[in-house]
Amino acid sequence: RKDRKLRIHESLDELSTDLADYIAELSEASVKERGVFAIALSGGSLIGLMGKLCEAPYNKTVDWAKWYIFWADERVVAKSHVDSNYKLAKDRLLSKVPIIPSHVHSINDSVSAEEAADDYEFVIRQLVKSRVISVSDISDCPKFDLILLGMGPDGHVASLFPNHSVLEEKDEWVTFITDSPKPPPERITFTLPVINSASNVAIVATGDSKAEAAHMAVDNMGSDLPPVPAGIVQPLKGKLVWFLDKAAASKLDDG
Ligand code: 6PG
Repeated sequence: RKDRKLRIHESLDELSTDLADYIAELSEASVKERGVFAIALSGGSLIGLMGKLCEAPYNKTVDWAKWYIFWADERVVAKSHVDSNYKLAKDRLLSKVPIIPSHVHSINDSVSAEEAADDYEFVIRQLVKSRVISVSDISDCPKFDLILLGMGPDGHVASLFPNHSVLEEKDEWVTFITDSPKPPPERITFTLPVINSASNVAIVATGDSKAEAAHMAVDNMGSDLPPVPAGIVQPLKGKLVWFLDKAAASKLDDG
């Protein structure tokens, strides 16, 4: 697909700078256009790669008070647990910049995975009503300004794993799984309709272990093989950007 923009970098340092620039630019554009920036994070190495946002110039130039933060997926564990994507982002990122605490929408960690997914969807519905999150004009889905995704070696994004029935979900915005092949097993996740309704989606993947999945996702569209989840990320109207290092891009047809 020609509309897939690839940003391939020599080093993780260069990738981190480009990622920070990209996020800061989208934040600025969104705040200018609608007064707020609704961004969804994931877990994993992505958060470390976003670290430059806490440094100059971004720590001063980004309008942090306008950020509303969500998670594209979250492990159903206590917020203080080492496996919590919220805790990872809070420790590494959110505690270092002047985010407004009430704008940080972490999951309810005191209920079941099913209830946590329902609760999270309810929160998102309220914020769509108040236009903190825009709404897609083609689906009735929320239209996040930016959804940031990591990608596993198996091509999973958020907690959408290969061959899992949640890949077929059409109605729910947020759903849950209790059988994640990557521990911990219980997770909630944005569904593909929500991811594909975003204004901007970035998939960030680095290292050799991601090369095969990146190739499958980027190059194998329309082939006979079942697409890896990252390959089904195709924003309807929004823009998709891949941030890759040389190693992760090493198997691309045009890498
Ligand atoms: C999670 C993440 C997940 C992650 C990928 C890539 O909760 O596990 O949200 O989707 O982004 O597994 O993780 P790495 O970048 O650490 O390989």
